[in-house]
Amino acid sequence: MKIGVPMEPEGETRVSIVPGSMKKLHKAGFEVLVESGAGVAANYSDSEYSDAGATVGKRSDVMSCEIIISIRMPEASELSKGQIVACVADPFRHPEKVKSCIDSGITLMSMDMIPRRLSRAQSMDVNSSQDNLAGYKAVLLGAAEVPRGIPMMTTSAGTVRPAKVVIMGSGVAGLQAIATAKRLGAVVYASDVRKSAAEQIESVGGRFIEVDGMDDFEDEAGYAKPLTPEFIQKVNDTVCEVASDADIIVTTARIFGRPAPITVPATAIKNFKSGAVVVDMNADVGGNCELTKAGEIHITDNGVIVVGTSNLPGTLANTASMLYSNNLTTFITSLVDKETGFQISEEDDILVGAPEGNDFHVPGMGGVLLCSDGKLHPKQTRLGGIL
Ligand SMILES: NC(=O)c1ccc[n+]([C@@H]2O[C@H](COP(=O)([O-])OP(=O)(O)OC[C@H]3O[C@@H](n4cnc5c(N)ncnc54)[C@H](O)[C@@H]3O)[C@@H](O)[C@H]2O)c1
Repeated sequence: MKIGVPMEPEGETRVSIVPGSMKKLHKAGFEVLVESGAGVAANYSDSEYSDAGATVGKRSDVMSCEIIISIRMPEASELSKGQIVACVADPFRHPEKVKSCIDSGITLMSMDMIPRRLSRAQSMDVNSSQDNLAGYKAVLLGAAEVPRGIPMMTTSAGTVRPAKVVIMGSGVAGLQAIATAKRLGAVVYASDVRKSAAEQIESVGGRFIEVDGMDDFEDEAGYAKPLTPEFIQKVNDTVCEVASDADIIVTTARIFGRPAPITVPATAIKNFKSGAVVVDMNADVGGNCELTKAGEIHITDNGVIVVGTSNLPGTLANTASMLYSNNLTTFITSLVDKETGFQISEEDDILVGAPEGNDFHVPGMGGVLLCSDGKLHPKQTRLGGIL
């Protein structure tokens, strides 16, 4: 079977498959066609792809392969009935994309829907691989903007105290942000709405910001549940109070399938120090900070620098592409059976979700397989509710 690797749309610097993945894909029986220039923005040249055994060609040939692997969802107008597309479709934010695939008879696999806690899914989990890089880069952006040093320094001219960093949200990105800030020498405080995060925060060197009366807002899949407005207010008040004398604040909070929650209201920024930096990792999905401008860095009236850089994994395109490619290569080769060849099986938990009774079963949600044969997968009932 042929896999097509298209050039991503403008603004996306990553590429879905890198030359280093060719060997494993060929071994599994795939031929790979790469659009000329697809890897250039991520520092993978056409000649590296050809040397690794891929065919480098024009877009129309790539887009007519049986399987398309990309990061962003290609336009349905470029696809045809029966094709298989594996990408990050972000279906809760873009249900119309799923609808267009259903209408066009395309089989759509959205990698952000992977039942990630299944141990077999971990090496295919693009959310984790990309968020990890985003958390790291967010701290570096904060360190680059803040008008002071990060570590404690004892010099003949005097002693510099370590910077105070507050990380809001301690999932994959947040934990990496804590570890990165700690390695730079900061004193790091971190919040989450899941009690279970406290231990993880402490294990990477952070101090957990305890919120009075904290209930456990964790669902069966390990994601944060939607919170009550009263509790959100309480968390924001407590955490923003801790952040009022911080030098860098990194926001990473998310709730699966919903817009990013506001963790830094505009009123809180008024109490932050002049020169403090807020790095909003969710700038391109609504933002955690009320004053974030997506794709921009701006300074508020009271001197707080708000960083809304979009697509943080894309700012580390070389590494991010390599990890995404590893995830997708593991995923797509897992669908090849030695005897029967490439197969989309209804028994595969990664495709259709964990079975009922399993700890990782999430009612109303299947796995990465969103639609095929012109129909939404019957297990994607939560998604069906918004289509
Ligand atoms: N393979 C695995 O087992 C696996 C893989 C990935 C993640 N996980 C776990 O899943 C959980 C979620 O991680 P994620 O990276 O997907 O999270 P995410 O990207 O969905 O959200 C980021 C974090 O923001 C938190 N959050 C939501 N609202 C908040 C608020 N108002 N204030 C502060 N924090 C808020 C969430 O609880 C979460 O920890 C974590 O426990 C993570 O360790 C497990």
